[in-house]
Amino acid sequence: MFEEGIALKQRYGEENVFDLSLGNPVMEPPAEFVRELKRLAEHPISGMHRYMENAGYPETRAAVAAQLSQETGIKLTVKDIVMTCGAAGALNVVLKTILNQGDEVILFAPYFVEFLNYIDNHGGVAKVLPTDEQFMPRLDALEAGIGPKTRAVIINSPNNPTGAVYGEDVIHRLGELLCEKEAQYGTDIFLISDEPYRKIIYDGLKYPSPLNHYLRSIIVASHSKDLALAGERIGYIAVHPDCDQHDELMNGFIFCNRTLGFVNATALMQQVVRHLQQVTVPVAEYQQKRDFLYGHLVNMGYSLVKPQGAFYMFPKSPLEDDVAFVRELQQWQVLTVPGSGFGTPGHFRISYCVDDRTLEGSLAGFREVAEKFNLC
Ligand SMILES: Cc1ncc(COP(=O)(O)O)c(C=O)c1O
Repeated sequence: MFEEGIALKQRYGEENVFDLSLGNPVMEPPAEFVRELKRLAEHPISGMHRYMENAGYPETRAAVAAQLSQETGIKLTVKDIVMTCGAAGALNVVLKTILNQGDEVILFAPYFVEFLNYIDNHGGVAKVLPTDEQFMPRLDALEAGIGPKTRAVIINSPNNPTGAVYGEDVIHRLGELLCEKEAQYGTDIFLISDEPYRKIIYDGLKYPSPLNHYLRSIIVASHSKDLALAGERIGYIAVHPDCDQHDELMNGFIFCNRTLGFVNATALMQQVVRHLQQVTVPVAEYQQKRDFLYGHLVNMGYSLVKPQGAFYMFPKSPLEDDVAFVRELQQWQVLTVPGSGFGTPGHFRISYCVDDRTLEGSLAGFREVAEKFNLC
């Protein structure tokens, strides 16, 4: 898709191609980010570019812990946080730490495709379970799917590619189910919550944290999306302070951060985000983009679940063959991604973290294709 996009842009001109295929936000980081960078450049902290503790600067970890404490009401401290190279780095560190060869990791489709690669990196076996019509994890399938080899369940809310936000009831029941299954098999099962979109949430919803519902929760997050710093690779892992394997996990994470070759999250970004824990890109702008595109697509006859967070939508493909449908849209210079890439054929993903001109420009192509397939 990426390469075809470049070819289309060369052929038709950048302004005539409506690229909704990438989760790479066009928003710039907030003004506070620039302020912090300037402050550090003008008043450098002695030794700020040297090696550090592999877990990250205690001050930054304390700031992340304070933020999570405020969000969850659970008292987290510097001892519960490891700074990482993005959520991707965090996921690899966690999986490397907890997996033995052949351990199963449960995911729900549609899923962020890199999960499969990360699990494979560390000798795990991915087991994919379904979601329901609203893209919520099917807990009946989870109940049947957990076995003696299940080591972890990965959830991702707000979700890429659907924009679904898991409700408190879902998270609560999930936690109960994992406790029941641990007792049944005499195992420990970790709930890995992948949360890079945690703060990009709409309609006044409150994010329900797994930390409030399951002690063996491990949070992986980053500032790639909430501060629009995807290229800076700054994220973290948080462990529930009351988890009975807390110290062993933390030692494992710090060791694996080092031996996987990340060593530590970048020093400069740790210094910057330390003071930005309360800052977020203007989420209302994403909500406006969601409302604009969702409204138009529904009017054209597309069938889709209204996203409640992140910046993706996952409509049904009017053709059974989602790859063929994505090619139809491509004829109108509208670029999207087939649902098969997320383990869910029959859908396609739209990423709306683009400028308004691109969104507006894409409507003609969506309308042409809707008419062709008699959606209207
Ligand atoms: C669901 C999900 N998890 C993890 C990541 C990786 O994020 P990061 O840039 O923090 O490594 C992404 C990036 O798009 C994502 O969509």
